Amino acid sequence: MPSFDGQARERIAELRRLVDHHNYRYHVLDDPEVPDSAYDVLFDELKGLEDAHPEFVTADSPTQRVGGAPAAGFTKVAHLQPMGSLEKVTTGEALAKWAADVRKRLGTDEPVAYVIEPKIDGSAVSLVYEDGILVRGATRGDGQRGEDVTQNLRTIDAVPLRVRAADGDPPSLLEVRGEIYFPLSGFVRFNESQVAAGKKPAPNPRNAAAGSLRQLNPTVTAERPLSLWVYGVGAREGELPPTQSDVLEWLREHGFRTNPLAERLESIEEVADACRAWEARRGDLDYEIDGIVIKVDNIAQQRRLGALHERPRWARAYKWAPSTAITTLRAIHIRVGRTGALNPWAELEPVHVGGVTVSNATLHNEEDINRKDIREGDLVIVQRAGDVIPQIVGPAGEHAPKTRRFRMPKRCPLCAAEVVKPEGEVMHRCPNRACPSRGLETLIHWVSAAMDIEGVGEQFVRRLWGEGLLRSMPDLYRLSAERLAELDGYAEISAGRAIASIEASKAQPFSRVLFGLNIPKIGWVLARNLARHFGTAEALVAASQEELELVEGIGPDRAELVAEWFAEDENVALVRELESLGLTMTAGAAERPAEGPLTGKQYVITGTLEKLSREETKAALEALGAKVSDSVSKKTAGVIVGESPGSKVAKAEKAGVPILDETGLEKLLASP
Ligand code: IVH
Repeated sequence: MPSFDGQARERIAELRRLVDHHNYRYHVLDDPEVPDSAYDVLFDELKGLEDAHPEFVTADSPTQRVGGAPAAGFTKVAHLQPMGSLEKVTTGEALAKWAADVRKRLGTDEPVAYVIEPKIDGSAVSLVYEDGILVRGATRGDGQRGEDVTQNLRTIDAVPLRVRAADGDPPSLLEVRGEIYFPLSGFVRFNESQVAAGKKPAPNPRNAAAGSLRQLNPTVTAERPLSLWVYGVGAREGELPPTQSDVLEWLREHGFRTNPLAERLESIEEVADACRAWEARRGDLDYEIDGIVIKVDNIAQQRRLGALHERPRWARAYKWAPSTAITTLRAIHIRVGRTGALNPWAELEPVHVGGVTVSNATLHNEEDINRKDIREGDLVIVQRAGDVIPQIVGPAGEHAPKTRRFRMPKRCPLCAAEVVKPEGEVMHRCPNRACPSRGLETLIHWVSAAMDIEGVGEQFVRRLWGEGLLRSMPDLYRLSAERLAELDGYAEISAGRAIASIEASKAQPFSRVLFGLNIPKIGWVLARNLARHFGTAEALVAASQEELELVEGIGPDRAELVAEWFAEDENVALVRELESLGLTMTAGAAERPAEGPLTGKQYVITGTLEKLSREETKAALEALGAKVSDSVSKKTAGVIVGESPGSKVAKAEKAGVPILDETGLEKLLASP
């Protein structure tokens, strides 16, 4: 049936055009016309038709991105033209000197126009298109020969499988050059999943990009969120526009993703200003850049300037201070956190990294320090990426003489209590609840995360702690503006403001107070659940471990810790004192469960329900005043049982608690 096949073929061609068009809007223009779901509908229709008509499938169809079988290795390929490299400059003077040389060689006194482009810190690639179809993609390699990674490049959505023929036929040969990069937004997630899978995290996005390109199995590459910026043309048939800025425009029209931040500037002074301004903006991007590339805009001028040892005389890389540096690790210190964890940190010989001076860095734990083999007295490599806290990558070369492997102190550096390392945990802890450091950290937690007191933060607390004015939360509410104003550097106004915000924090809800008390393993969510469940500090103080277990999210282990905490006289005294100082100790309307026909009743949900999700069931019950808890007790009014329930059913039966299936639940909700 030729007409039927003919129809299918036409529709396939039409769908490919549409899918390519929307891909272009999305990846190149960054301006999608339709929602992702509409794109998916077109793509799925195309896939369906091609499955029914495999004879019409071609390699440049958008459905053909993944599918290559794992390779045994990569073939080396010679580049059509060598992939050169860039001479670098680091100062405005060096830039001016280069510009003078350019003018001299061109024999002109006229200002020369330049294009500046972000220098993407990824992995350079060459993409070869024959008659508009992607036939080969290769890594840079040594500049003469790279590795054929076509199958992997095909999986990257931003790599066009064919040249967009904007005006008539595509060139018979076109080689484009660009940089494959790993977006920062995906990088953190990628490393988390690497660690979760027991694999080594990538040290930086560049390594992640290069590693992803060199995966033998293309389906692995396809899972990575790689993207591409194209910045130039290598070998080609046919004419190209006369300037680099026009070439970028031409590339964009022909379907290639060019960086919208590229800019033509009329003088080297403007270039120097822009390079400096760029350093501050570098952290705003979703990809890493290690400098700015500056190119003479006019291509005829580029040709006249030529290259020296594959380094074009018409371009320079303006590079900033590197984001890694080498310095001496003076000492490893310990800070005891509010939960008693011993957090090691590094005191460094101050060093300039990525534009700032760094004098300390976080270290994670004893195991991590020794895995990296970081030792006091060594020269170490410090790395700083964007706003991230500086990290120590490892020792820079051999150990200094007489260095020793790091050992956690046996005793807490502040209170001398014997340090413990609970089984299965990586952190060492100071078990002393009265350890002064924990008091200080608890106060910092109180003013910042928990009570969020405006203008009163870590610095304020440390200062007053140092002055001996502050040892506990109640002290904070006993401070006076007069006393504060007596301190050096405290004007009356700022003292007054601080006292006013401390006063205002008394109105913060009960759940925040509970969170601020620093009860072991009670974070923000569980503090809210406790506040909701018990309603008052009084009820919470009186709660038994069994009663605590009924609170959502609080299992037996946490219930035990909470019960133990409230069993200590000094903790109860702290709560009472805060109450007498005027802090909120009863749940507010937003924290209280709704009043309704099921008020006072508790339900437990187990297994998967068909019609309602667990969250929806919970919300429906709570709207009627009921509480939903995690474990069954004699007080439970009913257990709602779905598909593949747990041991809670047996427990309910034993305790004589009514069991409701989904129909029972519906009845209950309809007439509670
Ligand atoms: S132009 C002759 N433009 O930097 C080389 N390169 O040292 C001309 N790079 O690995 C290169 N962004 O992949 C150029 N906008 C850009 C670039 C860029 C990153 C990389 C390039 C190469 C290295 C050059």
